[in-house]
Amino acid sequence: MAVKIFLAEKDIPRQWYNLAADLPTPLQPPLGPDGNPVTPDMLAPVFPMNLIEQEVSQDRWIDIPEEILDILYRWRPSPLYRAKYLEKALGTPARIYYKNEGVSPPGSHKPNTAVAQAWYNKQFGIKRLTTETGAGQWGSALAFACALLDLECKVFMVRISFDQKPFRRLMMETWGAECVASPSEETNAGRNILKEMPDTPGSLGIAISEAIEAAVTDTSGQTRYSLGSVLNHVMLHQTIIGQEAKKQLASIGENKVDVVIGCAGGGSNFAGLAFPYVADKIAGADIKIVPTEPSSCPTMTRAPFSYDHGDTACMTPLLPMYSLGHTFVPPPIHAGGLRYHGMAPLVSQAIVEGLMEPMALHQLECYEAAILWARTEGFISAPETSHAIAATIREAKQAKEEGKEKVILMNWSGHGLMDLTGYQAFLEGKLVDYPLPEEELSKSIHVMDKLPKPSMAKSGKW
Ligand SMILES: Cc1ncc(COP(=O)(O)O)c(C=O)c1O
Repeated sequence: MAVKIFLAEKDIPRQWYNLAADLPTPLQPPLGPDGNPVTPDMLAPVFPMNLIEQEVSQDRWIDIPEEILDILYRWRPSPLYRAKYLEKALGTPARIYYKNEGVSPPGSHKPNTAVAQAWYNKQFGIKRLTTETGAGQWGSALAFACALLDLECKVFMVRISFDQKPFRRLMMETWGAECVASPSEETNAGRNILKEMPDTPGSLGIAISEAIEAAVTDTSGQTRYSLGSVLNHVMLHQTIIGQEAKKQLASIGENKVDVVIGCAGGGSNFAGLAFPYVADKIAGADIKIVPTEPSSCPTMTRAPFSYDHGDTACMTPLLPMYSLGHTFVPPPIHAGGLRYHGMAPLVSQAIVEGLMEPMALHQLECYEAAILWARTEGFISAPETSHAIAATIREAKQAKEEGKEKVILMNWSGHGLMDLTGYQAFLEGKLVDYPLPEEELSKSIHVMDKLPKPSMAKSGKW
């Protein structure tokens, strides 16, 4: 039995897969402040036009430029692993496979889109990118991509992660980027929040506002903003993961996957693995597709499907998505990358359609799962990734109870070698669960009361 299943570089997928082309009920458009759909030129101060074209594209397949592949070869195709040591520890009849996205230089799936976004910006003549980061994985991925493509990079890092993960900042600086704690004194959005809440741990919503402001106020016109998740073009760039997995599984005669699992913050690593399988499900395959999230930030499992802003200061268009409200400041759990109030519109629409079964998990169960993983498979997982592992273990145990030989495919989205303070707190017994209280949920979703409501129409097939 092979533990690692490799794919030759010559067999790397050469196109990205766009789920928007196949969704049975079409994606609803982003709206501007007047309630009308935004036009591509309204997004032009924020993103380069070549990425805006991808954002609105309805083409099923989009070619990956050779120069992007040439950078991805540093770690792609990523290996697919059979989690046989975990299977043995659980005594499960399930066959568990995982894509190891932790082998990229910054340590997660994030560079799959960072490289693509930096490359398209460079083609468009942009010299400098701004962005936000939660756990620091995205900020370091963009710093890495900008170093290879000779672009300047500035990262607004959510305060709590900035304090918990100093080595992530050092990674960004090693790749030549500048990293500041958010909220900062450098933008109007940051200053306003600091006036109201000087001790705020920050949030991805606030950091996004700061990064967009920093991009659009550069009068040279040579700065753009880059987002590490949520948007359609980001999901698109990640689909290389699921396409590789399919080829790798087919190469060992594994032609039917029963369950696909990924953790979802803004949705990108999950989408990357899952969307090629969602296409199969739309075409009639029987697959359970599970995005997982923290019960302290229960966007997919408890929030409404609404139009909402992607950031706290309402600088982004309104996106049709599951959202806890753009002012939501999540509890300080260690999975910083899962502390986002919204969810990718493509993932949200697939949930509305009934194509996915989201699951919320408590922090302690996830750390227990990550510890078992470390003591069986060996790798130390990012706290975000532990949400996928915990769900995988639940599925594997259920397969054991049912005596079924299920095939489970999971995305191991990143390593946790820069996240050891969370492990320290867990091992010292200092971590607690933070289920979001009902009163706080209803307070935070209030902010969307007056915003337009997207249609919940669906085909009714699932
Ligand atoms: C390792 C890892 N996994 C998952 C996520 C969640 O993001 P997304 O849902 O876009 O994959 C992050 C985000 O920071 C991350 O660093």
